[in-house]
Amino acid sequence: MTEPDIKKGLAGVVVDTTAISKVNPETNSLLYRGYPVQELAATQPFEAVAYLLWNGELPDAEQLAELRATERAHRALADEVKAVIDLIPVSAHPMDEVRTAVSAIGASDPNAGGSVLNAGGSPAENLERSIRLFAALPAIVAYGQRRRRGEEPIAPRDDLDYSANFLWMTFGAEPDAVVVDAFNRSMILYAEHSFNASTFTARVITSTLSDLYSAVVGAIGALKGPLHGGANEAVLHIFDEIGDASNVKSWLDTALAEKRKIMGFGHRVYKRGDSRVPTMKAALDTLVEHYGRHDVAELYDALESEFVARKGIYPNLDYPSGPAYNLIGFDTLTFTPLFVAARVTGWTAHVIEQAGANALIRPLSHYDGVDERHIAR
Ligand code: ACO
Repeated sequence: MTEPDIKKGLAGVVVDTTAISKVNPETNSLLYRGYPVQELAATQPFEAVAYLLWNGELPDAEQLAELRATERAHRALADEVKAVIDLIPVSAHPMDEVRTAVSAIGASDPNAGGSVLNAGGSPAENLERSIRLFAALPAIVAYGQRRRRGEEPIAPRDDLDYSANFLWMTFGAEPDAVVVDAFNRSMILYAEHSFNASTFTARVITSTLSDLYSAVVGAIGALKGPLHGGANEAVLHIFDEIGDASNVKSWLDTALAEKRKIMGFGHRVYKRGDSRVPTMKAALDTLVEHYGRHDVAELYDALESEFVARKGIYPNLDYPSGPAYNLIGFDTLTFTPLFVAARVTGWTAHVIEQAGANALIRPLSHYDGVDERHIAR
């Protein structure tokens, strides 16, 4: 029998079409619905990009106002969701908390499970659910960080847009425009990235005609891993270990001798640099100036130049976003939940796309276990 051509990790395998985003490693570009992500990050509020991912076009003023009104109306967490979060030990990883909170929101949606005849829900129902999750996630993330710090939750503010309100609910202070802008850019850059591991997970779950909440819960599980979303958190652990730019060379000698993966570097698709990094690095630079933390920029540059010189492996988006979130004041454990708040837009756009042209995702495997055998009688 001929050996099948196994594509370990599905590397290089094209499994379906998508009209949501285009990753082009050759030109080092990323398009959301045709627009370069850098242009969107420089000109749009995150709400408009969410609208674009779901609907295929940027909103006009009226459409944006309508989305913002719906988002504002669903910002506050229901008491039963808060009660479920409060049952989780504060020692749990916040990704467990976010995963459970989304599951609780799904369980309190009376139509979420659909029926055998309407399994998964209609596109309109799923769009509505997507907006509700998009609106609720900042409150979940902010509630979690404050809970871990022993602080009272802060109610959302109707006079602030998405990013400013997110920061308000987390820190309880009017955020500076520079900080809101950097945070908004990070949300846009994290929003979507084609068939990455978490999005593919969401599509696999959707392909069984399961519901949107289940798809998002599964995607959160996939994103938690340090080879995917968990890397932004891991970058800060590395920065903490290194401490100062002058320690980079000796730290890297040891880390590479121990064959450690240097988090925040490398990418399955981009081999010559992640297209999102220059935009996020520019946002990080504005934060470095704002907070007067040139030591962070020095450590960032020293590790990047030393690692690229030694291994030829370039930073991914998690490399500049980790230190940016740290400067803004987020706890390191909160970084991957921030990725969830952004990526929920892309995930749900993919759920709607998958459900609209569905085929059950069910690959094959090549058996290499023991030959057929029988119970001795
Ligand atoms: N540090 C050290 N070595 C690395 C790194 C890294 N960050 N990334 C790749 N390599 C090495 C591997 O050890 C391997 O070397 P070998 O051929 O000598 O065994 C070679 O480069 C190829 O690496 P793979 O892991 O096989 O490449 P793959 O395409 O599967 O990996 C991945 C991509 C998982 C992202 C990898 O680069 C990695 O583990 N990076 C660190 C985690 C990280 O930053 N993840 C974030 C991803 S992007 C995002 O979610 C926004």
